[in-house]
Amino acid sequence: MATLSVRSVEKSYALGQEPVEVLRGVDLTLEAGEVVAVMGPSGVGKSTLLNCVAGLDVPDRGQIEVVGQAMNTLDDAARTLLRRRNIGIVFQFFNLVSNLTARENVLLPFLIEGQTPDENEVNRALERVGMSARASHLPSQLSGGEMQLVSIARAIVKKPPLLLADEPTGNVNVETGRRIMRLLKDVSREVGSSLLMVTHNPADAAQTDRVLFMKDGRIHPEASLSSEAVSRTAVDERLSALGI
Ligand SMILES: Nc1ncnc2c1ncn2[C@@H]1O[C@H](COP(=O)(O)OP(=O)(O)O)[C@@H](O)[C@H]1O
Ligand SMILES: [Mg+2]
Repeated sequence: MATLSVRSVEKSYALGQEPVEVLRGVDLTLEAGEVVAVMGPSGVGKSTLLNCVAGLDVPDRGQIEVVGQAMNTLDDAARTLLRRRNIGIVFQFFNLVSNLTARENVLLPFLIEGQTPDENEVNRALERVGMSARASHLPSQLSGGEMQLVSIARAIVKKPPLLLADEPTGNVNVETGRRIMRLLKDVSREVGSSLLMVTHNPADAAQTDRVLFMKDGRIHPEASLSSEAVSRTAVDERLSALGI
């Protein structure tokens, strides 16, 4: 069973009188443990796609299945549960809760499900991202890179089958970005999660198993790169061929 299956997904937003068609038939599949990058021009709908997969937004048409369960036909409450149990999310702007410490943010995935936090898992996650020494800091006392490391710990603490990352290195410096990318890839392997990551950074995309290119509301399967074909040069070539 695929970890994620997206079939013919369409999504429009109303902008004044005119609907803006953002997703116009998106198809993609992630097998267990795959690390896949999605690239595309700004405004093409990459975040919209991730939000639909996460059940934070709902497509107009099409099917989304996460670990074999239909995401988009569920009601709000059931969608929320499916997300909490199966998906870890790393956002572009971290989305940490500002009045909770780093450690408390990593406890949250347990608390929102009414579970007693597994202290060992929380410590292990903080340790794994190198943030144990900052565990009692508030987000405002952390750098952007450190906030992103904490949000990675929060995303992996329950070892979800699917990790989503939306431009995870977009708001940190280059050196930290490299570290975050390496970490995301390594932890998804360790935890056994599939990782779907949106990125503008060809160097980040070149480190994944497969690179998908989105243009005009669709993923172009003929442009995608997989296994040995994935390289920095090949990614750059595709981007310029597609005019991205
Ligand atoms: N909630 C919304 N309401 C109206 N338009 C939206 C909304 N979210 C996104 N859009 C529009 O949908 C398009 C795709 O946005 P987005 O998915 O954020 O693109 P990307 O992440 O690829 O830059 C943009 O034109 C954006 O303005
Ligand atoms: Mg975006």
